[in-house]
Amino acid sequence: MRMSLLFIPLLLAQIPIVHAAAIHDAATKGDVAAITAALDAGAGVDESDGKATPLYLAVKGGHFAAAKLLIERGADVNAAPTPLLGPALMLALAKRRIDLINLLLDGGANPNSHRARENALHIAVRSGCLDCVKALVEAGADVNAKTKDGKTPLHLAKFTGQRDVAGYLLSHGVVLPTPAPISMKLATADVEKGRTYFTRLCAGCHSAEPQGGTKTGPNLWSVVGRDKASMAKMRYSDALLGWEGVWTYEDLNRYLFGPMLTTPGVYMETPGVPDETERIDVIAYLRTLSDKPIPLP
Ligand code: HEC
Repeated sequence: MRMSLLFIPLLLAQIPIVHAAAIHDAATKGDVAAITAALDAGAGVDESDGKATPLYLAVKGGHFAAAKLLIERGADVNAAPTPLLGPALMLALAKRRIDLINLLLDGGANPNSHRARENALHIAVRSGCLDCVKALVEAGADVNAKTKDGKTPLHLAKFTGQRDVAGYLLSHGVVLPTPAPISMKLATADVEKGRTYFTRLCAGCHSAEPQGGTKTGPNLWSVVGRDKASMAKMRYSDALLGWEGVWTYEDLNRYLFGPMLTTPGVYMETPGVPDETERIDVIAYLRTLSDKPIPLP
């Protein structure tokens, strides 16, 4: 008797929490009737259980009808438990659930929403889902968006050998940047600075000695004027193998401007040398790695 009297205030204090618990529980299970009941009893449609909203939980459980109901009842489709996790769209993409993706996009989900280091479109490409890529692009996703470490959706598609995705992206607004020509500026370059940059940025992966072997990247002795992707011991990407001709100063300029941007699919996943002056100095230094340096233009 005494015990139950003690519990009454406790129970009263818990009534709002009981609502919250009910709607989160129902969303996790995809129980449409229970969600409706909880909402009708006054539960907030975007109430967090301390981590996630009911919509996020419904999508996490893969429950289409529950997610649809919550959106119809006004749920915020872009709510994210944490910036690291991102909104429910990220879950739907990771699951390759095109029905949920379309439901969320039609409900106003931001096609450019992102989680930790990448955008929705990067996740769609990584998960190898052409339909997901199309849905996002049709909803307005930026096809040139970069991950924190500079990877575009096209780079990811080519790197993972997804020709259909790559082809779709190329015909839907991908822009491959072309840096301004630099050949005429090589004569005034600072070769010593170029050597310093090379030591700092490139030498970890590339030997520059005549007899140097292959590291992560090919030996760069005599690289200017050499056939692209032609070192015997090296396994090159299709991106480099498919780029015809010898390394001219302008091709090096284009490549080093941003390998993943200008040569998507490349195995050299580094920022390259985006600064023009530094890039000119590095190219002028590469020119010296030869018994007979190619004449300056
Ligand atoms: C993390 C390792 C890494 C770093 C750092 C790196 N590279 Fe590379 N590099 C590679 C790999 C791997 C390849 C082969 C790429 C491919 O097959 O797609 C490559 C290819 C090249 C090629 C083409 C060579 C050929 O045989 O056709 C050039 C030129 C080049 N790198 C220059 C540079 C320069 C200059 C720097 C510094 C600014 C640099 N790399 C930094 C790994 C690296």
